[in-house]
Amino acid sequence: MKTIQDYLNSGAVDIAPLLSLVLKKSNVELITHGDYCLTPTEKQTLSEFIQQRTDGVPFSYISGTKGFYHLDFKVTADTLIPRPETELLIDISLDLFPKDVSCQLLDLGTGSGIIAITLADKKPHWQVMATDYSHAALEVAKSNATTNIEFAQGSWFEAVNSQCFDLIISNPPYIEENDSYLEDLTFEPISALTAGQDGLDEIRIIIDNAPNHLNKNGYLLLEHGYDQQLRIIKLLTKNFTNIQTFQDYNIKDRAILAQIKNA
Ligand SMILES: C[S@@+](CC[C@H](N)C(=O)[O-])C[C@H]1O[C@@H](n2cnc3c(N)ncnc32)[C@H](O)[C@@H]1O
Repeated sequence: MKTIQDYLNSGAVDIAPLLSLVLKKSNVELITHGDYCLTPTEKQTLSEFIQQRTDGVPFSYISGTKGFYHLDFKVTADTLIPRPETELLIDISLDLFPKDVSCQLLDLGTGSGIIAITLADKKPHWQVMATDYSHAALEVAKSNATTNIEFAQGSWFEAVNSQCFDLIISNPPYIEENDSYLEDLTFEPISALTAGQDGLDEIRIIIDNAPNHLNKNGYLLLEHGYDQQLRIIKLLTKNFTNIQTFQDYNIKDRAILAQIKNA
């Protein structure tokens, strides 16, 4: 017979959230019901989860969900696990247009759909399109959608034909392909993470092609690696103006907003 308290004392990785997941109890309930004995089925499920977590499977792939901004998103092994840093892109976007002004928004490389879906939920009058190269990721994004969003599959702008937008956002793959940080990310899809030797292969494609898909005065907003800011500004200067840079909650350079130069 093993109680909640016995498990909490075990020191297993993420034991409290795993217990919450299996028993559908809040943290407070775990403490106030510490003497509850788990049923054989609960014990079996919990020990499988503990093993997965010990093997390094991220908690979000075990629970199948991750909170982002004000919503919960389904995530699978086909999608990147949403990162809190990416909430910065939402804050920047929400501040960009006056309250009731409409916006045609494109989220390139939507993954689980967090950027497109969060903004569509916050701004129901915006027209939102989201794309990804991965069919499987797009299926997850579609299942997460709370409002009407147009989804399209294809590599970057190939998915949108000749359409133009007021705001193009992307959190593209931007990790250098030999970065040792990747050793900690073996459970997430590599195609969502790496972008060539300098990590900028995909950002270059997006910056080069965005001018063909932006309306007059339109914006491009990109998430990027902490050490890529200056190189991205250089890539932007030919076709963009009003370049603004942003740091994340860890005071790391993380996002760039730029406005198209009008002809
Ligand atoms: C860093 S993840 C970001 C996912 C999601 N937007 C987020 O912020 O959590 C990059 C996404 O870009 C997609 N991707 C990679 N290469 C692509 C390409 N050539 N065209 C479109 N999407 C691509 C990946 O499938 C992945 O979903």
